[in-house]
Amino acid sequence: MKLQSGLALHVRRLAGEDLASLVREGGARDAALQWRAGPVALDARHQRLDTDAMAALLAAAQEAGFDAARKALFAGDIVNPTEGRPALHAALRDPSELADRGMAARILEARTRTAAFAQACAAPDALDGHPVRRIVNIGIGGSDLGPRLVYDAMKAFRREGVELRFVSNLDPADLEDALEGAMPETTLICLTSKSFTTSETLMNGRAAKAWLVEKLGEAGANARLAAATAAPDKAEAFGVDPARIFPFEEGVGGRYSFWSAAGLCLEIALGPEVFAKILKGARGIDTHFLTAPAEENLPLAKALIDVWNRAGRGLLARCVAAYSSRLALLPAYLQQLEMESLGKPVRLDGSPLPAHSGGQLVWGGKGSDIQHSFFQWLHQGVDEVPVDFIAVKALYTSGDERAKALGANLVAQTAALLDGHDGTGEMASHKTLPGGRASSVITLDALDPEGLGALIAVHEHKVFCEGLVYGLNPFDQWGVELGKVLATDLLNGNHSRFDGASLDLARTFKL
Ligand code: F6P
Repeated sequence: MKLQSGLALHVRRLAGEDLASLVREGGARDAALQWRAGPVALDARHQRLDTDAMAALLAAAQEAGFDAARKALFAGDIVNPTEGRPALHAALRDPSELADRGMAARILEARTRTAAFAQACAAPDALDGHPVRRIVNIGIGGSDLGPRLVYDAMKAFRREGVELRFVSNLDPADLEDALEGAMPETTLICLTSKSFTTSETLMNGRAAKAWLVEKLGEAGANARLAAATAAPDKAEAFGVDPARIFPFEEGVGGRYSFWSAAGLCLEIALGPEVFAKILKGARGIDTHFLTAPAEENLPLAKALIDVWNRAGRGLLARCVAAYSSRLALLPAYLQQLEMESLGKPVRLDGSPLPAHSGGQLVWGGKGSDIQHSFFQWLHQGVDEVPVDFIAVKALYTSGDERAKALGANLVAQTAALLDGHDGTGEMASHKTLPGGRASSVITLDALDPEGLGALIAVHEHKVFCEGLVYGLNPFDQWGVELGKVLATDLLNGNHSRFDGASLDLARTFKL
């Protein structure tokens, strides 16, 4: 493949280098491997990269049409050709670059409506004379992971007196837990589903409605149902009052959707002002991504580093180590964003992608906890997995000795992965850490609404750039459909296409 053969020379050249020595060279390499965009800094000096390799990666991005592609994204062109759609997540932050002014107006109008509803929900008599005390968001995938991450991360910015809980899974325990301690009178159910056909969401939605109806009757239940969807007719057919249906555009991808009305539960739970600040933070990155030259462009740089490790060095996975309790859900969020976007077999023209291309297997957890679980594997396991350390400067410099120690642990881990350790004495080989293992540090100035919005937008644009360089469509997800069809077949008693082992399981589960 052209991309891989273009990188091969640099990969071979750098494979033989001692990474720890390379890093200590400093100079031009240091300057070429650090970026800043608003409140986000990226330090990739611990990557097995140098200025020539970075230049080759940037050339690959330019050859793939980086400048035209980013403009097309913001203009609302069809960048998702397999579904014939634009990708409107950046326009949700600020639609001013959209060519379709009607769509821009619809986006602004939708924002005004959700903000007004969120504001109204703060009134002491918002629900038929009762206040909103519990919001239950029912959604899955992008209709769940984004809101969950943001709510967790923004714990310090939540509105008082109202709690947001999440229901995604078909296990009835999910809804039971979300409703635990809730009073039907003061509970608002938000049904969040772009398609409004997702079985998990509809089944949980029906169960939640039944819980309301049992206590409050049909009218009382209906007054406590809201929906965010790109299919308002289906929400209405479900029984949601059109006054509480908040539509968003088809061109908003599920995993990019919490910026739209799909973030309604957040807007209520955090308040419209905080929600607007998250959008503002993302907009700052949008402006940087759209206007900064390629070599200064942080989301592009992050994409190219990940392409380097995946397509160049052949490393399948990437670990996201978030050194902040409030960002514990970031790895799960990025799993969907990246793996649903980039886990594709073919390029846009339908030709197959070669091995070692497309998205990385993303996994991770919360530091420093993970140092006491899988970091052993990262330090001494036979496979190298590059690590992204997510740092929050204001946390480590807050003056709290534990927070300072958390920062120290982060730095220590990057150094240990780089330098390793020569074991001595008895069991020397067992005590040896090979080192030479790549990592990057993404530092947020502070985990505030603007910072969080920026961090997420960086990753969204990074994924866009990876799709561009690989030549694949990061905005569809055909691979998830077959499983849905097969589950429906089983529930309908249609067993004709299943194998013996599957049928045995189906019988065991009384399907
Ligand atoms: O099954 C995958 C998926 O389509 C995701 O892309 C999406 O975020 C999720 O399901 C939920 O879809 P919806 O918002 O339409 O219910």
